[in-house]
Amino acid sequence: MMKTPICDFIAEYAKGDVLRLHMPGHKGCSIDTAWDFSHDITEIDGADVLYHSDGIIEESQQNARTLFSTQKTLYSTEGSSLSIRAMLYLALLHAKNNHRQPLIAAGRNAHKVFMTAAALLDLPVRWVYPQSETGLLCCKITPDDVASLFTDTDQPPTAVYLTSPDYLGNLADIAGIAKICHRHGALLLVDNAHGAYLRFLPKSQHPITNGADICCDSAHKTLPALTGAAYLHIAKDADASLCEWACSAMSLFASTSPSYVILSSLDRLNGYLYEGYAQKLASYCERLDDLKQSLADHGFQFVGNEPLKLTLYTKPFGYTGNDVASHLMAHRIVPEFYDPDHVVLMMTPEIPEHTHAHLHKVLCSMEQRPPIISRPPRLPHPKTVLSVREALLSPHVTIPISECRGKILAAPAVSCPPAIPAAICGEEIDDDVIALLSYYGHEHCCVVE
Ligand SMILES: Cc1ncc(COP(=O)(O)O)c(C=O)c1O
Repeated sequence: MMKTPICDFIAEYAKGDVLRLHMPGHKGCSIDTAWDFSHDITEIDGADVLYHSDGIIEESQQNARTLFSTQKTLYSTEGSSLSIRAMLYLALLHAKNNHRQPLIAAGRNAHKVFMTAAALLDLPVRWVYPQSETGLLCCKITPDDVASLFTDTDQPPTAVYLTSPDYLGNLADIAGIAKICHRHGALLLVDNAHGAYLRFLPKSQHPITNGADICCDSAHKTLPALTGAAYLHIAKDADASLCEWACSAMSLFASTSPSYVILSSLDRLNGYLYEGYAQKLASYCERLDDLKQSLADHGFQFVGNEPLKLTLYTKPFGYTGNDVASHLMAHRIVPEFYDPDHVVLMMTPEIPEHTHAHLHKVLCSMEQRPPIISRPPRLPHPKTVLSVREALLSPHVTIPISECRGKILAAPAVSCPPAIPAAICGEEIDDDVIALLSYYGHEHCCVVE
């Protein structure tokens, strides 16, 4: 049994006959009968303080540390977005503590929060592009690529930042890359927003197991937790100073009113993960493999090697991702994401048993057609005119893409999801950038005035 101290405290408090003369303003009473507000509290007496915890939150986070086998795990009620900001701040402090100029080498497919956080922290970034291009969403970086970051330069990075799994479900060789980073005294930071569940596979594929120093996980993306529930994890053998600074790093960016509804969802999740989740996940992955196999027999192709993502690569089957997504939505199946090339379906053991057969039937009612022979535009390498920080902090104006040529990008041009910037702030918008922005459906762009 794993205890659920936060849930227990809130349940007791909601039962008690107390006059709530503290925030939130609803006082435990909902204005709509469909919702129960009685469990929604924030940091009141006895409820601990999220980033100065020594009570129920600390006990619950300790349970999470046991589950993820970390030196430190902190909760976030503001998604991986908060954890990524904290992670970059920690990387900055770590470099300075070692008397080095901070420099982060980051895979080009980083989520936009990476870029905005680096800009706010004035943290220099060296973008790492993949050797072979497969569009904006995926950035295959190998241990050899990472090794060259340290040898071909007079300023080696102090940290390497990777997104793994990526939005399409590709896992990087974290173990191989971690060895190289550590050999060169650099931290390995991983955006594992899509991979919290990886820890519970028969052989853990979680970045912390595989050697990353720090990572973020969005519990809410792949585990049964409420939206916003996430973690910041620090590895057992990582520098102890990272753990010392972790709470101040989170509280630098976090709200001072954390949602206890989200915290209790993380607290309850500990018990759920402890009580047989690994077996449930293993047998679900087998069922999902069977589904993928029968879809492959019908002619569908997939990308990615992450067990819980079902990412259709649709053009070889004769459709755009948008076509397949429309077909699914016409049958009341809502994908996570689609673009001209892919449809991303996020699968978890929480999906009701019969739905695989339904999904199979709906997808297989599509007849294979001659393949569509077109590829996403190449990733542009435009001229950098301003630093990301200078561009982001400049007065800006939003104008149609058709008028953008020669202007400087001010804010990351992203569609959400996947929130991967099609161009980097501070770059001069050229024809290649316009082609990429148009391909991913952008009509407007925010440029420096
Ligand atoms: C790769 C990646 N990183 C980070 C984030 C941000 O995570 P959150 O929504 O939990 O703040 C997302 C969100 O979609 C994401 O896809």
